[in-house]
Amino acid sequence: MPLGPVPYAAAPFPGTRFRRLRRMDALRRLAQENVLSVNDLIWPLFVREGTGIEEAIPSMPGVARLSVDRIVAQAEEAARLGIPAICLFPYTDPDLRSEGCEEAWNPDNLANRAIRAVKAAVPELAVMTDVALDPYNANGHDGLVHDGVILNDETIEALVAMSLAQAEAGADILGPSDMMDGRIGAMRAALEAAGHKDVAILSYAAKYASAFYGPFRDAVGASGRLVGDKKTYQMNPANSDEALRLVARDLSEGADMVMVKPGMPYLDICHRVKETFGVPVSAYQVSGEYAMIRAAAGHGWIDGTRAMTESLMAFRRAGCDAVLTYFAPDMARLLRDEV
Ligand code: PBG
Repeated sequence: MPLGPVPYAAAPFPGTRFRRLRRMDALRRLAQENVLSVNDLIWPLFVREGTGIEEAIPSMPGVARLSVDRIVAQAEEAARLGIPAICLFPYTDPDLRSEGCEEAWNPDNLANRAIRAVKAAVPELAVMTDVALDPYNANGHDGLVHDGVILNDETIEALVAMSLAQAEAGADILGPSDMMDGRIGAMRAALEAAGHKDVAILSYAAKYASAFYGPFRDAVGASGRLVGDKKTYQMNPANSDEALRLVARDLSEGADMVMVKPGMPYLDICHRVKETFGVPVSAYQVSGEYAMIRAAAGHGWIDGTRAMTESLMAFRRAGCDAVLTYFAPDMARLLRDEV
C-alpha cells in the first residue's frame, strides 16, 4: 500500500528529473512500488456434466465449460503454476433448475462433486465456491422469488443449506455473491455449529448491479432466464459510501475477506475499502472486463498481453491483495517465464 502524501516538495527542475529513474529497465525495476505475483491470483472455472468435455463459451474467448475430470486437470495445472486458489461455478442442467432451487444444496450436485474431486486430487489447492441461487433458479435470480419480489430472509435459509453442503464437500473458501442482507452472520453461525470452524468466507460485500456480468450469465446458462434485473439487491453503480457500510457490516458478521465486484470500473472502491479497513481485499475482474480485453486484442486493436498485465497490476496499486481473473493461468505463465 502507498504510504500517503509525500512529506516534502520535489526539488524544482532540474534538481528533480523524474525521467532519471525511468531511463533503463534496471532503474525502473528498482523504483517500482507494487508487485504482481502468482500468489495474488484466483482462477474462476465453469463446471458442466459429462466426461472429457471442454465446451467453448463464445462470449469468453479462451474460456470453456469443463466436465469434472477436465476441472481436475486444470486444478493440477493451477497447482503446477503456483496459483493458490480456484473458484468453481456450475452450469446446471436445465431440468434441475427450479423455482425452489433445491438442487443448490444437494450434497451430490455438480459443484459439490467437483469440489470433492479437486480436493481429492490436489488437496493443497484452495477451492472457493459461489454461494448464490442463480445457477439453480428457474428465473436466473440469486434469491428465491415470490410474485416478482426477491425474498431476503427465505433466501438466507437456502444459502445456509448450500454453504453447509459445500463445506461438507471440502470447500476452503465460501463466496457468497448473492447480496442478501444478513447472510454472512447466518452462514458463520451455521458453519460453527456444524463444526466447520475453519472454513473461510470471502464476502462479495460490494457487488454492483453491472452490465459487465453478461458473458458470465451466458457461461452459467442464466442469460435467457433472467426475469428483470438485479437492482433490488446489487448495488447502484453511483454509490461509494454504501460500499464501506456493506464491508463493515459483513466483517462484523464474520467475513474473513471482502470483495469488490466488478474490478476495473471500481478501483476507487477497492482503494477506499483497503484504506478504511486494512483487511484482505480482493477484486473480481469479471467476465465483461475479460471479454473486452480479449475482443480488442483479437482485433489487433490493443496488445492483449500488456493489457492483461497492466489491468492486473492496477488492482495491486489500488490496494487489492487478490484478484479473481479469467486471465489467471495466462498471467501465471507469463510471471513464471519472466523470472
Ligand atoms: C451471481 C454471480 C455473477 C457473477 C459471479 N457470481 C453474476 C451476476 O451477479 O449476475 C459474475 C462474474 C463475472 O461476470 O465474471 N451469483
